[in-house]
Amino acid sequence: MLRIQHLIHMEAGAKQFLTEEFWIFRLAPITGFHVKHANRQRRRMKFFVDTADTEEIRELSDTGLLDGVTTNPSLIAKTGRNFLEVVAEICTIVDGPVSAEVAATDFDTMLEEGKKLAGIAENIAVKVPLTMAGLKTCSHLSRAGTQVNVTLCFSAAQAILAAKAGATYISPFVGRLDDIGQNGMDLIGDIVQIYNNYPTLKTEVLVASIRNPTHIVTAGLMGADVCTIPPQVLKQLVAHPLTDKGLAAFMADWEKTGQNILG
Ligand code: E4P
Repeated sequence: MLRIQHLIHMEAGAKQFLTEEFWIFRLAPITGFHVKHANRQRRRMKFFVDTADTEEIRELSDTGLLDGVTTNPSLIAKTGRNFLEVVAEICTIVDGPVSAEVAATDFDTMLEEGKKLAGIAENIAVKVPLTMAGLKTCSHLSRAGTQVNVTLCFSAAQAILAAKAGATYISPFVGRLDDIGQNGMDLIGDIVQIYNNYPTLKTEVLVASIRNPTHIVTAGLMGADVCTIPPQVLKQLVAHPLTDKGLAAFMADWEKTGQNILG
């Protein structure tokens, strides 16, 4: 015989059955609805450019396609310029987050460096490595309201820790995993699924070490929040031989009309 608690429970269950939340977060793992639709509820795909070259950043920023910039010590070294000056200049070019990485590896110095970097501009995201000291720094900075990008992530376990530490972004390096014979995008799929299991988590999945357009398309299919893209790959995204061929044919036909839209 059904007890009254069961009836109450069943009624609540029936109501919940009708809610979107039920479909997204309870049935998702069984139906696959999760990956296909849950992301749409809370994400938009952002494009960051992965460079410290201010001319390239200016050029890409003018296209209106850029949402932010990531740098790292190697990219800064490539410019041959002063780190703090380059980062400050980048922050004037883009409104979105600009990742600037600490150079120390111990907690005290990382925290001090992080605070100094955060003082450069409001759109700075302090980048810290995925070490215990880096996570501790992340936790302190994020509690103080600073955006933190936890970098050099190569496992889902590390991504869970970064989210626990309050990271704004987790940066899994897909290209470097591919380089050692693993599938970098599998890691992205795992992290997106884990984070989606806990809808209150705010950490965004920032796909890093991107090598080709397929990485970006796959990131989109998986519902990753951000791709940080080298400038040459960003330019490759637009290219398609059928677009070139089609445009050439349209232009040739238009020429034949002898018309000019601007009079
Ligand atoms: C991300 O923030 C890193 O700067 C970057 O994506 C590293 O890419 P790489 O593996 O091509 O050096």
